[in-house]
Amino acid sequence: MTLKLGLIGHPISHSLSPWIHAKFIDLAGLNGEYKLYEGNPNQLPDVLTQLKQNKIDGFNVTIPYKQVVLDYLDELDSDAEILGAVNTVVNQHGKWKGYSTDGEGYVRSIIESFPSLLNKDTSVLILGAGGAARGIYRALVQKRLKRVDIANRTLDKAKELLPLGKDFTPSEVLTFHTAEKNLSQYDLIVQTTSVGMKPKVQEQIIQLDNIRKDTVVSDIVYQPIMTKILQDAKVHGARIHHGHAMLLYQGQLAFEKWTGKKLDVSHLVDELEDKLRGE
Ligand code: ATR
Repeated sequence: MTLKLGLIGHPISHSLSPWIHAKFIDLAGLNGEYKLYEGNPNQLPDVLTQLKQNKIDGFNVTIPYKQVVLDYLDELDSDAEILGAVNTVVNQHGKWKGYSTDGEGYVRSIIESFPSLLNKDTSVLILGAGGAARGIYRALVQKRLKRVDIANRTLDKAKELLPLGKDFTPSEVLTFHTAEKNLSQYDLIVQTTSVGMKPKVQEQIIQLDNIRKDTVVSDIVYQPIMTKILQDAKVHGARIHHGHAMLLYQGQLAFEKWTGKKLDVSHLVDELEDKLRGE
């Protein structure tokens, strides 16, 4: 049997997911394919009809369809429902069920690199309050940490995230200025905005002068691998965590949903980094 997997989105020609899932299919000892199904918003209904007719086993969903795809699903996982976004669809006996693996994938990638970082004494600062921040915030608060604060340019947008965490972990919304001043109280700082992404590689969302050396600075941007804020974190003697690890572990979780197999993918973090560096 050939496992049929793929990705919908626009544009997706540079996606790393086919590379990642080809590795996973090999590791799992399966026969399979992971194809790109590119389509603009007008073409989306036809693309989805094609996937249904082909009896695809599962697919990932990326920008700009993470919300709109909900209209085409038969069932939603509870976290995906709360987040209002889906990045993974599983074909369960002809019914499509939607999941969101970004946040949990992020948390897995942190635990893999820093196994004891997340506990009841851990304070986290999230920079940004967009779609990526929502999933990461939701997954982090569920670990019942000491606090998970959110700093964002638009404070109202950050406040919209708070209901996602209220039953689990205390949170406050901050300006970037206040976050910079109070930086020494955080054990993990997670950069989720597009600031620092190619081509604007000289941009940095906050200054790190008040950071502690044992703090981990994590950037979900992976192009470039070494963003300005990660370079600066190193200069200040802090620890760093790269964005491509999240990409790999959200894929690990998606593959687990499709196949029931939880693969050890830790050795692929460096391989993916080499690929991103063009080696
Ligand atoms: P994504 O789904 O990738 O998270 P998004 O939903 O567009 O993207 O969210 C982008 C995030 O980056 C937001 O937090 C945005 O801040 P605002 O809510 O104030 O718009 C933040 N962002 C993007 N460009 C920024 C910039 N130049 N300075 C500060 N924040 C920026």
